[in-house]
Amino acid sequence: MSLAPDGSTGTPTTERVKGIFSRLAPRYDAFNLVSSFGLDRWWRRVAVHMARLTPDSEVLDLACGTGDLALALARIGHPKSVLATDFVEEMLEVAKRKASRYNGPTAMSFAHADAQALPFPDASFDVVTIAFGVRNLPDRAANFREVRRVLRPGGRYVILEFSRPPFAPFRAVYHAYLRWAIPAIGALVAGDRASFEYLNASIRSFPRQEDLARELEAAGFSRVSWRNLSGGIVAIHVAEA
Ligand SMILES: C[S@@+](CC[C@H](N)C(=O)[O-])C[C@H]1O[C@@H](n2cnc3c(N)ncnc32)[C@H](O)[C@@H]1O
Repeated sequence: MSLAPDGSTGTPTTERVKGIFSRLAPRYDAFNLVSSFGLDRWWRRVAVHMARLTPDSEVLDLACGTGDLALALARIGHPKSVLATDFVEEMLEVAKRKASRYNGPTAMSFAHADAQALPFPDASFDVVTIAFGVRNLPDRAANFREVRRVLRPGGRYVILEFSRPPFAPFRAVYHAYLRWAIPAIGALVAGDRASFEYLNASIRSFPRQEDLARELEAAGFSRVSWRNLSGGIVAIHVAEA
């Protein structure tokens, strides 16, 4: 499989991102499990706790992929509803299949939606979440605008994303892992080295924790905070509308 000639840069474009995830859909979960040593499940669990759900919460999960965060929100947080959205049908199909085995109290539904232009009315949700999706958006400012629009006043935006380990020696080891191991695991598990070279580059070029927080504030969010997990390999930002 191949990407555009600049396939090793971390710059997302809509066509590139759609291409990567439509090809990856059947093997995405296996890649996650192997490449994160299973830590991704714990990261999503912490994100659910930071969402501070109640039985009345109406939740929108953006870039839901194969549905792991949407399902964790339902299974752990027990909100009133979770609407899981993505713009790649192949990912949504896997998510729907997995959710068909869920039989708890939360109403789960799925919709095709671009996270930069949401097809929902103003003030429709109490919580919006996104896991490992923001990094793939060419226009983060449009996403932040849209999320503020669809959140009710005081609603929370919870962003789980790869970030920058603050401790330099650990960061050096981690970046070496990203550079060498991730494309190799991608080739092995998903047969797609080029996409994982993009993944590696996109992680390293993503804004550091404090810069993402500043972007959220500039977009009008308040009470922006974050928590580093696994030494800052990922961070969870929470911002209020
Ligand atoms: C790395 S996966 C993350 C999936 C899932 N949230 C998780 O935690 O495993 C990124 C997902 O973002 C989706 N995505 C990327 N850009 C998007 C956009 N503009 N609108 C909606 N979904 C998008 C991709 O289709 C893909 O399913």
